Amino acid sequence: MVVTARALWRIWEQGRERTMILSSPFLVSFFLLVSVPMLFVLAPRILPPKTLPRIPDRDEVDDLALFRRATLASAEGGGLRRRAASPPKIAFMFLTNSDLSFAALWEQFFRGHERLFNVYIHADPSARLLLTPTPSFRGRFIPAKATQRGSPTLISAARRLLAGALMDDPANAFFALISQHCIPLHSFRFTYRAILSAPDASKPTHPEGALRRRRRSFIEILTGEPALWDRYVARGDDAMLPEVPFGRFRVGSQFFILARRHAVTIVRDRRLWKKFKMPCLKSREDSCYPEEHYFPTLLEMQDPEGCTRYTLTRVNWTDSVGGHPHTYRPPEISGKLIKTLRKSNSTYSYLFARKFSPDCLRPLLDLSHSVIFRDECSILDVSRLRKVYGAEANV
Ligand SMILES: *[C@@H]1O[C@H](CO)[C@@H](O)[C@H](O)[C@H]1NC(C)=O
Ligand SMILES: *[C@@H]1O[C@H](CO)[C@@H](O)[C@H](O)[C@H]1NC(C)=O
Repeated sequence: MVVTARALWRIWEQGRERTMILSSPFLVSFFLLVSVPMLFVLAPRILPPKTLPRIPDRDEVDDLALFRRATLASAEGGGLRRRAASPPKIAFMFLTNSDLSFAALWEQFFRGHERLFNVYIHADPSARLLLTPTPSFRGRFIPAKATQRGSPTLISAARRLLAGALMDDPANAFFALISQHCIPLHSFRFTYRAILSAPDASKPTHPEGALRRRRRSFIEILTGEPALWDRYVARGDDAMLPEVPFGRFRVGSQFFILARRHAVTIVRDRRLWKKFKMPCLKSREDSCYPEEHYFPTLLEMQDPEGCTRYTLTRVNWTDSVGGHPHTYRPPEISGKLIKTLRKSNSTYSYLFARKFSPDCLRPLLDLSHSVIFRDECSILDVSRLRKVYGAEANV
């Protein structure tokens, strides 16, 4: 009995000591120290996310390595000497997440001009491409990663296309971004001449520039658009600062035709990308179109004189729904439509148009020889083009 009572007493004593340790300020702070970080770890898993998905780190690491290689390669090659050996080419960069429904039309467009262009395709890995690639598209797919609307992944995909095209052929002088819903509005000859014989930028920024051709990029750059502020704060109120103050934030169509030096500028950029790669806030999802801002903002900062500020890809925004432009359907296709789509309010002619539903292929092919690829008049001075590029430019 005595033994038991003593044992009980000891147990009671030990328990008291433990309680004292537990209630000591040391333990309280220790507990807090552990639980606060735990809260940070657990909270994002419990609470709904405040932002749209981020770009996976692995994609970013891969891209960085690719863009470094492309920057290095274009610093070494791609100079005037290489270009003299081959006529300048246009890189047609197809950005798609579905079949290239108009491949047959593009084949007709490309036929006979193999020395003057290259094709590159970035197809979303989840896209089910059912059509077998036709000759111009076969083997022209670059390593692609997942893309999504309302996310900077569309910028990444365009930069991957630029990097691939820069490294692949130093003769690539212009880089045209095309989607699977785009169609050509003119013949290849017309398109090539329109792009390559366009006047250069007027003022070279440094003395060496006088010796070099300073080709201009055809990229839309707009400011003062009504919803620009909403687009600017889509990642958070001060998220773009200090690199991009609102006054320097621009908007424009994602569909551009860039001069080579601007392709290098974009592939080399890390400063603005750091901002534009941030995911939009979920609450501002409707204002999330980073691909319409990154390219015009960057080029306006780097070389405003070197950009036309307009796009050569026609799009119809009348009655647009959910950020999608009007999609043309077969009954709308006519020679008259093609001619209307070519016209701009300026001296230039639109070269490409979007968006067309896949079943427009048949009616478009019916018009290809009689309208689309028939050049009514050349607004361009061919003899001047020959003087600049020699006989090889005689397409
Ligand atoms: C633009 O789309 C609207 C319908 O959204 C259509 O009525 C109009 O004819 C289209 N304009 C052109 C030039 O195709
Ligand atoms: C040309 O300008 C008029 C009037 O500003 C406008 O309604 C029309 O949509 C413009 N056309 C093109 C092709 O931009």
